[in-house]
Order: sequence, then structure tokens, then C-alpha cells
Amino acid sequence: MASLSLQDVSKIYTRKGRADNWAVKSVSMAIDDGEIIALLGSSGCGKTSTLRMIAGFESVSQGSIRIGDKTVNALAPAERNVAMAFEGYALYPPLTVYDNIAFGLLRGKVARDEVRRRVRHVAELLEIADILERYPPMLSGGQQQRVSLARALVRPADLYLLDEPMSQLEPQLRSLLRGRIKDYLIAHRMTSVFVTHDQTEAVALADRIAVMSDGVLQQFASPEALKERPANLFVAGFIGEPAMNLLPAVVAHRAGRLEVLLGGRQGHEALRVGFGPAARIAAAAGLQDGQAVQLGVRPHKVRLDTQPPGGDMPAAGGNAQPAGDNIVQGPLAFNQWQGDQSHIGVELGGHTLLVVTDGALDLAPHSRVTLELPLAALHLFDSHTQQAVLHGADL
Ligand SMILES: Nc1ncnc2c1ncn2[C@@H]1O[C@H](COP(=O)(O)OP(=O)(O)OP(=O)(O)O)[C@@H](O)[C@H]1O
Ligand SMILES: [Mg+2]
Repeated sequence: MASLSLQDVSKIYTRKGRADNWAVKSVSMAIDDGEIIALLGSSGCGKTSTLRMIAGFESVSQGSIRIGDKTVNALAPAERNVAMAFEGYALYPPLTVYDNIAFGLLRGKVARDEVRRRVRHVAELLEIADILERYPPMLSGGQQQRVSLARALVRPADLYLLDEPMSQLEPQLRSLLRGRIKDYLIAHRMTSVFVTHDQTEAVALADRIAVMSDGVLQQFASPEALKERPANLFVAGFIGEPAMNLLPAVVAHRAGRLEVLLGGRQGHEALRVGFGPAARIAAAAGLQDGQAVQLGVRPHKVRLDTQPPGGDMPAAGGNAQPAGDNIVQGPLAFNQWQGDQSHIGVELGGHTLLVVTDGALDLAPHSRVTLELPLAALHLFDSHTQQAVLHGADL
């Protein structure tokens, strides 16, 4: 096993008569020995290009890649001791499934009995032990994909690169194998980078996730950090289902408190959201009065006050309002019961805030809804730079 580091790595595809295509733009990341990493991003963002440069199947246009303490830019794939499961599987059609999986082991001069034991083990792990005597053209896409994955996992290597290893599998099998593969990678201390565009899979499998967009590494952090401290508006909107609410606002200082006015400069009294003692926070975050920001809050973190208007019964489950939490009100836009949770839309400052709650709620159409925005769940992003300037959890 080995560590892996990318230093300012770019991939530029050039073709005569065509503009250069910067598929990967100055990506840097350091991956520890034994760490499991997900490359997460939408189609075309440069995940496969990054993986193929690490494996040596694509040249590195700029920057350098190190595996362990060796710079590998100039090494051929076979000299890098990297096992890869390809997006397109790349199985050998004339060989049986067994021989496809055993191929890398036989080259490595492992004893025959040991080869048989390891192939069986990984085939059972991936639920393909019953097709070991078949040939790849006779297999379904999902079976071929698991053979390709088995072939990569079974051979000893310094680094494992898995390009969308479970994209063809149905959800139940996927979630079963996810757990098994994670245990296998951890048990063998396999440094691994896997590509996915499924964030549930990335969160379930990876120690850290590299979020990419348009060739740029947006943030490289643990699943918790991506959720609780997204570095910018892209990550804030991309990670989490349903997506984080992002509401335009402007910064204002008032009576020693830092506030944002929802709905921009026209924001009014009812739509102030406070952050606490102004001077300290504003100085730390470099915030100026009038600065355009986006206020972020996840739909699950907003608390809905179900107390009837004018009533003096405390809301179910709570009464004393925790210090620093913000109360805002707005008209109900929609109330959808999804079978296991409610999606509730509330108009705030010209935008619709989505709230997710566990139970079904009986709310009259267009009624005024009271919401609590817990300080610890709030995020502020600079509208211009798109970067995070403040996370309520840090205050
Ligand atoms: N061999 C190539 N020649 C020219 N351009 C390429 C080549 N391979 C990929 N690209 C381009 O580079 C960009 C990134 O492609 P890449 O395959 O790395 O994306 P990806 O994140 O793996 O996408 P997907 O999720 O669809 O597999 C795309 O714009 C793609 O068209
Ligand atoms: Mg790809």
C-alpha cells in the first residue's frame, strides 16, 4: 500500500483544429496510506480523466503525481503497481470469469491454491461465485462490472482505482456490496480512489470525498465536513438531499449584533436573521454592511413551530427557545407528504424555503407559518466570490 499525492495536476485534451479542452484544472490532493477516497461530481467533470492520469493511461499535461515517495508521471501503467477497475470493464472475452479475475494474480507468481482461494473469496464477496466458468460475452452489464471489480480487488497493488464500480447494479445489491467492499478495503488497508456520481455511495464508502465540478476540485473533506462546513456555494448546493436552501440577503449591523436581511436590500423587519455579537464575528469573517450574501440552511435543520397562531400552548417537543435561534414567518407555499416525510415550502423574502419534517402536518393553504432557524445550522456565502464566509456551527 502507498500514499498518493496530486500536485497542481491538469489534463488538457488537444485536437488539431479544435480549442483545447481543460478536463482537469490544477487539482491538488494528498491521500494517506490506507485511505478510501471518493471522486464525486456530475458527468463530464473530469473524474475518469483524473483516475486515468493516476493509473498512467493518460499523460499528465501539467503538475505531478506521486505514489508513495515516487513521482510516477513518466512511468508506464505497468510500472506503477496500480490496480484499476475501468468504467468500460475491459474484460478479456476469450477467458472465463475465473481466469479474468485470476489474471493479475498469476502474473504475480502467487501459488495456484492461493490464487483459487483468493478468487473464490472475492467472487463470493461480489455475488459472482456462480458464474466463474462463464465467458464475458455471456454476462449482463452488472455481472461484467463485478468481474472487473473483482479482478482489480484481488491483486496486490499499492493503489486501487475504481471507476464507477457499482453503477450498473440495482439499489439492493449495491447497498449490500457497498458494505462488503468497504470492509474488504479496510481489512486489507487498501489505499483506494473510487469514482461515483452518487453521493450516498460516496458518503457510505469514503473516508474523504473530493467534490469536482468542471475540472476543478471544489472541496476535499470528510462527509461530515462537506455537510457542516461546505467551502463554497457549489458544494453547499451539491451535497445533501434535498439541497440546502440558499436565500439572497445583505449584511447589516444593528445594536451590536450581526444580522442579514433576507430578500436583499428591500428586506424588512420580519426577515432579519441574527448571528450574535457583531464586532467579533464580522471582523473574523471580514463582513461589511451592505455586503451581498447567500444565507444557507438545510431543509432538515429548520424547525417548524406548529403552535396555532395566537395560541399559548408550547410547541410539541419544546418550549424554551434556545438562545441565538431566529424566528421568521412567511406564508405557506406548499405542503407535500412524501410517504415518510413532509416537504413544506414557506415564502421568505421573495424566495421559497424548503422545510423537511418527519410527520404529516395539517396546515391550511396560505396560512402563516413560523419557523426557527437554529444558529448552528446557518451558513453565509459571499455572493460575489461564492466562498463560505461563516458557519453558524463555529460561533
Ligand atoms: N480522450 C478524450 N479526448 C478528448 N476529450 C476527452 C477525452 N476523454 C474525456 N474528454 C473530455 O474531458 C471532459 C471530462 O471527461 P471525463 O471522462 O473525465 O468525465 P467524468 O467525470 O468521468 O464523466 P462521467 O461521469 O460521464 O464518466 C469531458 O468534457 C470529456 O468530453
Ligand atoms: Mg467517467
